[in-house]
Amino acid sequence: NNTPNGKLMVMHEEAAKLYHHILMNTPAGAQALKYLKGRGMTDELINDFNLGFAPEQRILKPFLEQKINDYQLLRKSGLFVEDNNGGLHDRFVDRVMFPLRNQNGRVIGFSGRVIGKVPADTPKYLNSPETPIFNKRRTLFNFDIARKEARGTSKIYLFEGFMDVISAYSAGAKNGVASMGTSLTEEQVGILGRAVRQVDICYDGDSAGQNAIDRAVTLFRDHQPQGMQLRVVQLPAGIDPDEYVQQNGADKFAKYLVDQEETPVDFYLRFYRLNKNLNNQTELISYLEQSLKLLATLSSSLEQDMYLTQLAKEFDLDKATLKSQLQDISRRLG
Ligand code: CTP
Ligand code: MN
Ligand code: MN
Ligand code: MN
Ligand code: MN
Repeated sequence: NNTPNGKLMVMHEEAAKLYHHILMNTPAGAQALKYLKGRGMTDELINDFNLGFAPEQRILKPFLEQKINDYQLLRKSGLFVEDNNGGLHDRFVDRVMFPLRNQNGRVIGFSGRVIGKVPADTPKYLNSPETPIFNKRRTLFNFDIARKEARGTSKIYLFEGFMDVISAYSAGAKNGVASMGTSLTEEQVGILGRAVRQVDICYDGDSAGQNAIDRAVTLFRDHQPQGMQLRVVQLPAGIDPDEYVQQNGADKFAKYLVDQEETPVDFYLRFYRLNKNLNNQTELISYLEQSLKLLATLSSSLEQDMYLTQLAKEFDLDKATLKSQLQDISRRLG
């Protein structure tokens, strides 16, 4: 803790304590606390994730200056914005604060959410900038806990948002992580691949979520270690995991995660249908060709055969014809 980076982490931990105290015990935090309770957050969850509130009045700077008498360190922490005269001002104002931890559970940054409805031109979530201790591309929200929780199952759930991770946690799926607002990175894929044998992608049930699943599956395919398994759990149209838990309860969500787990191929066989009218013959043929191309990448002929049976049945086609077409495609792809 006496190294520069150690000191930066201590500053973040002090800040997290202050924000948490303000949320739980002061009038300044009352509105934020009401907001979180309205979203189904219990005291236990708020404590487990050490959620907090950064009030309107900028309080972090005087608080940390009492403890740390080092301008350069304060400046480098990312907890402040710098004005033209080098003056520092609290970066996070009027936001619900989510502490971000590294793999050892040390606080290295924050993400702050606007309370309630998000005004135009305001980011819903504001993240810490890159600092000596915070690299957004390498950080996964809740990874330190998820890795421990995954010791038995060796499985981690990958969500889009912080609230999804927290709601899944409340439903017993404590092995959930989220990437940092940006889309998933190669570095995060590497970190997950070294930690567990299986990752379940569980993104929002909107079209942004489906496109993000496609991107994530492609990234895993190109960078995941040998032998790692990838699965998809697609949410019902229009809702995210947090909303699912709030609407249907924790038990239903836990069951949903188990029942709806599917292979990436199953996901793509549906994904390719979006924006296609399969009653139109030309579009049906193009769908089938796209699907067979995908099946050609499978190494298991048993798996290929299962999907061929499925497609033949669904579209009332001759399975032998589909199979010979698949073999043609496989040969062309070499
Ligand atoms: N995100 C962001 N800024 C935005 C929108 C999204 O940084 N304006 C990031 C956040 O990390 C967020 C994730 O993208 O958690 C997923 O976006 P979205 O689904 O819109 O947000 P939710 O996580 O559902 O946020 P909430 O439930 O709090 O509204
Ligand atoms: Mn507490
Ligand atoms: Mn989303
Ligand atoms: Mn969402
Ligand atoms: Mn949400």
